[in-house]
Amino acid sequence: MRGLVLAVLIAGPVTAQDAPTKAQGLAAWDDIYAVTSHPRCTNCHVGAGGIPMWNGLTYGADAVHGMRVQAGENRVGAETMPCRTCHIGVASANAIPHAPPMIDDAWRLPPPELAWLDKSSEDICEQLRDPETNDGFTMDELATHLETSAFVAWGFDPGAGRSVPPIGLDEMVVALNLWAAAGTPCASDP
Ligand code: HEC
Ligand code: HEC
Repeated sequence: MRGLVLAVLIAGPVTAQDAPTKAQGLAAWDDIYAVTSHPRCTNCHVGAGGIPMWNGLTYGADAVHGMRVQAGENRVGAETMPCRTCHIGVASANAIPHAPPMIDDAWRLPPPELAWLDKSSEDICEQLRDPETNDGFTMDELATHLETSAFVAWGFDPGAGRSVPPIGLDEMVVALNLWAAAGTPCASDP
């Protein structure tokens, strides 16, 4: 009996427990990038300029936020016109087209190093696996962030006819876990 188990261990395929291949990891990354490059996310994930976008809805690509909104260094518009003047921090159905979206959190931009707007798949890939440019998260923490952030939840269910990313939040978390298990490969890797 013992010999049989050993023989099976040596000869038998154990594919179910194998780590995913690099190719599988890169395919999972493509799914993640389909979300991180979507306007529901890139409208906020902008760089140091601090100008959010209205890209999407009826505005088309590259439409900057109206009313000269400027997030400033603190990313909430404190030096000029605070985001909360219009985006009140209260959960809302966000059903009225062209009304400012509202969630149960202070509407604000992420820090500039989390910028995704106009970046390539390779760039965002390298950013998201590096704690310096992913808000200091491990892959597990990143998955938890996706599952618990009011911003992310809104991006997948924005209301008022706004388009949504091509895959759902659950699928994004599955893709992130697979990418992590594959060793977070990026197409730019040697
Ligand atoms: C004077 C009111 C006002 C202020 C202040 C304001 N916003 Fe907005 N914002 C709006 C309105 C209205 C919309 C919806 C535009 C539409 O859908 O036609 C909007 C939409 C957005 C969107 C686009 C959401 C999407 O994907 O469709 C982002 C991102 C955004 N605001 C970020 C900010 C940030 C960050 C600040 C503070 C730095 C801010 N806004 C300040 C009124 C405001
Ligand atoms: C209203 C602005 C806003 C929108 C829209 C938004 N985010 Fe964010 N995001 C933030 C802020 C702010 C942070 C920084 C952490 C915090 O303060 O919660 C952040 C951080 C993150 C992080 C962790 C840091 C990093 O970049 O690795 C991830 C992942 C993330 N967002 C994913 C998304 C995804 C996916 C979408 C679209 C479905 C999205 N966000 C839409 C504001 C936004």
